[in-house]
Amino acid sequence: MARFLIEALRNHKEVGAIVASGRYLARAMTATIGGNGHIDRVLEVGAGTGAFTGSILNRLGPGGSADIVELNPIFCQKLRNKVVGPWSDQNGDRSAKVIEGCIEDANLEESYTTIVCGLPFNSFSPDVARRILRQLAALLSPGGTLTFFEYAGFPSLRCLMPGPWQKHARSHRLFLQQLSAPMSQRRTFVLRNILPAWAVSLHAQGS
Ligand SMILES: C[S@@+](CC[C@H](N)C(=O)[O-])C[C@H]1O[C@@H](n2cnc3c(N)ncnc32)[C@H](O)[C@@H]1O
Repeated sequence: MARFLIEALRNHKEVGAIVASGRYLARAMTATIGGNGHIDRVLEVGAGTGAFTGSILNRLGPGGSADIVELNPIFCQKLRNKVVGPWSDQNGDRSAKVIEGCIEDANLEESYTTIVCGLPFNSFSPDVARRILRQLAALLSPGGTLTFFEYAGFPSLRCLMPGPWQKHARSHRLFLQQLSAPMSQRRTFVLRNILPAWAVSLHAQGS
């Protein structure tokens, strides 16, 4: 908790939140993993201190794998030592690795059945947010799901505020509409989180 806050204050644009997400949001973000009759290949982006990672790993079925990308080296160390390491010791039939660095530079050759994205798109410039969302959509396997979250009310509030924020927020919203047009979308409202948030899942067409 304290570690998250310290890093959030140091790198506020990258972290984009002052409190890690809670377990109710984690449940909504990871609901599509496991029990689908296929082997899960999961990508998590912007894992922070692991608010969603534990839930992802607990849901992975036998043979499943998770690539966990995080930019902040201190968070990566925590993820390796406190989350992925202890889990790996107990789960030899599934695998997970932490990839330290920016998602845009990550060398990911797989396609993923589920992508769980914790990136603070509202702190990014529209160009960066678009580039990353396109990259993630391209990494989805047919029938795969990309889930990200938005703090409730933030996008609408930003759309109403005059100035550059409004322009960015409107262009981000338009881009999301275009990106999700060929996909089916599901939005789950999570009240019990600081702050209340929507988990937004986009399902790619396919088997
Ligand atoms: C809003 S925090 C979310 C952390 C966690 N998923 C949660 O919900 O509590 C965003 C995280 O994304 C990371 N991040 C920001 N930009 C990134 C990028 N380009 N590639 C990978 N991780 C990034 C930050 O370091 C931070 O840990």
